[in-house]
Amino acid sequence: MTPRVDQAELKRNVALAAVDAVMPSLGAGAIIGVGTGSTTNHFIDALARLKDRFEAAVSSSIASAERLAAHGVRVIDLNDAETIAVYVDGADEVEPGGALIKGGGGAHTREKIVAAAADRFICVVDESKVVDTLGAFGVPVEVVPMARRSVAGRLRALGGEVRERAGFVTDNGNAILDLHGLAIADPDALEAQINNLAGVVENGVFAVDRPDLVLVGSQQGVREFAPLPE
Ligand code: 5RP
Repeated sequence: MTPRVDQAELKRNVALAAVDAVMPSLGAGAIIGVGTGSTTNHFIDALARLKDRFEAAVSSSIASAERLAAHGVRVIDLNDAETIAVYVDGADEVEPGGALIKGGGGAHTREKIVAAAADRFICVVDESKVVDTLGAFGVPVEVVPMARRSVAGRLRALGGEVRERAGFVTDNGNAILDLHGLAIADPDALEAQINNLAGVVENGVFAVDRPDLVLVGSQQGVREFAPLPE
């Protein structure tokens, strides 16, 4: 019997597949968008070996920027990037339509910004992240600190339980509230509804802008999700 591959190995395998997927985007002047998290860290480590084949990276977090820089990859500000050929990032949940929950690392605001700026968004997950319906992970919500209490009340009114990430400060200087207990039937609607609350900076539902490609690391190898709707 073939031994089971552990989750760390699945993450590494799918990250290596993502490097193959970005190959056609490399070249002189190419800017690569880079996400945040343990799966993305594998991507960074592998991408860095190709650092002479692209111009620079735009990072979605201070942690990823530091990892890229430690490898000698040039990291530039998003405002200095003419175009981003491709953005690669992990996720906490992905549902059959390709909508995501992200923000387990609290970086979803910058992740959504860089993903939206990129020509192509490739999402990399291990098979434990694939769900029928988003919600069990919770929805991370980045909140301006003075609005923690008021936003928590509004989020509770949506029917969920709110937990503040104690002691956590985002790269933008804000707090994170995690909204638990929802089975998200309409990710587009919830993403917009939460972002409409005064004091919310961004939430971790990625439905309005979905990835162009989802790669899944599984016991059977890396597979592509079926074509996603526009
Ligand atoms: C960080 C994220 C990550 O992509 C997400 O939490 C997945 O992380 P990992 O690859 O470590 O499982 O959204 O804000």
